[in-house]
Amino acid sequence: MAVSFKNNFLFGASTSSYQIEGAAGEGGRTPSVWDVFSKITGKTYMGDTGDAACDHYHRYGEDVELMEKIGLDAYRFSISWPRIFPEKGRYNPEGMQFYKNLIKELKTRNIKPVATIYHWDMPMWAYNMGGWLNRDSVYWFTEYASRIFKELGDSVKLWITHNEPLCSSFLGYHEGNHAPGHKNLREALTVAHHVLLSHGCAVDAFRKLNLKEGKIGITLNLIPVYPATKDKEDKEAASIRDGYLNRWFLDPIFKESYPADMKEIYEKLTDGLDFVKEGDLSKIAVPVDFLGVNYYHRELIKFSSDSEMGFTVVHGNFARTEMDWEIVPEALDDLIVRLRKEYTKIPVYITENGAAFNDKLLKNGEIRDNKRINYLSRHLLEIARLNRKNMDIRGYFLWSLMDNFEWQHGYSKRFGIIYVDYKSGERILKNSALWYRDLIKTRTIK
Ligand code: BGC
Repeated sequence: MAVSFKNNFLFGASTSSYQIEGAAGEGGRTPSVWDVFSKITGKTYMGDTGDAACDHYHRYGEDVELMEKIGLDAYRFSISWPRIFPEKGRYNPEGMQFYKNLIKELKTRNIKPVATIYHWDMPMWAYNMGGWLNRDSVYWFTEYASRIFKELGDSVKLWITHNEPLCSSFLGYHEGNHAPGHKNLREALTVAHHVLLSHGCAVDAFRKLNLKEGKIGITLNLIPVYPATKDKEDKEAASIRDGYLNRWFLDPIFKESYPADMKEIYEKLTDGLDFVKEGDLSKIAVPVDFLGVNYYHRELIKFSSDSEMGFTVVHGNFARTEMDWEIVPEALDDLIVRLRKEYTKIPVYITENGAAFNDKLLKNGEIRDNKRINYLSRHLLEIARLNRKNMDIRGYFLWSLMDNFEWQHGYSKRFGIIYVDYKSGERILKNSALWYRDLIKTRTIK
């Protein structure tokens, strides 16, 4: 049965600065943690880096034209911190000009700009001063965010402080497969806390500006977790995994506390959580206007006695994407319903959802990415159904507008609805882009 979206539902697409911009040494930009990390042997697929990426820094005009062709209502991008503050306390107007130009182009074509302030590219100057482990990072970030609000506050009406704090803290500092590549649980917890605190302080700075319009929120990647069996041990393991991935971020933001069960586990495994100071949690729990949710997949969890926290991730029987992620649109329903029940009624935007597949450019210039179309349409159908249950999802930003630098996987995973030929820089609309264009026209999904 066909389901329609409201006229004011935003159909968009997402990208992030380091993944698409390139021009790493231009416009006064200095290196970020990802510039350095990606150049260490063995850290990324084939030693790929974001030095050139999709060259969006030079080709943004063409990219915005393609967005218009697809008919996007909105475009979510992120701002590169080392372009704006290449050194501590030194503002770089040339770096800001790039975003002003991009936004102007978007506005000319009637596409709403949605800006993410931090999508993982911390400047090296900040990292060298201790990075997110240093509590002063909260002030550096707030200074950076405040400058952006001041410069772009008239033209951007939807703001996201952080993209996926789970990744910037736990992938970067516990699992070690993201920059800066540390493997230390206490560090990850410290970073997560400072990132969350910097979110709260940035929201506060935003409110103090009293802009006429403009909404602000944060984006979390939420992963619905299910026990692999009905066994008590697996259920407990799944609950710990849920604490690690989801509750550790949702609880401080919406309940002004860290979850007690996880605190107990983390206190045992580290020297304690003394980096949490009095008054921090009330700052983190500052009211936000919306929540951004990134949803890609679910996880199935089993108890494991050999792992640090007693869980291991296993696979179920669902088909998987090139990232080896199970395709389970129904789990998005569980996620949103739970969010509404346990956490918040504020508007939600799906700020990322998408899939990497092994796309082939055919001789006739076509990319028949039917699997992606299938993935996207099943998830959009789920969203339309959720809205019929009054779940108040206001928009959908697919990941990604174009193929790009997929972090440790380099350029080997293609998520885009626009194909990028990394040698020539040529962009080609995949069939999924044409499908999305038609969907946006009718605002109806079957
Ligand atoms: C991130 C993106 C990333 C995507 C696919 C999200 O976790 O925000 O930067 O490319 O997932 O892995």
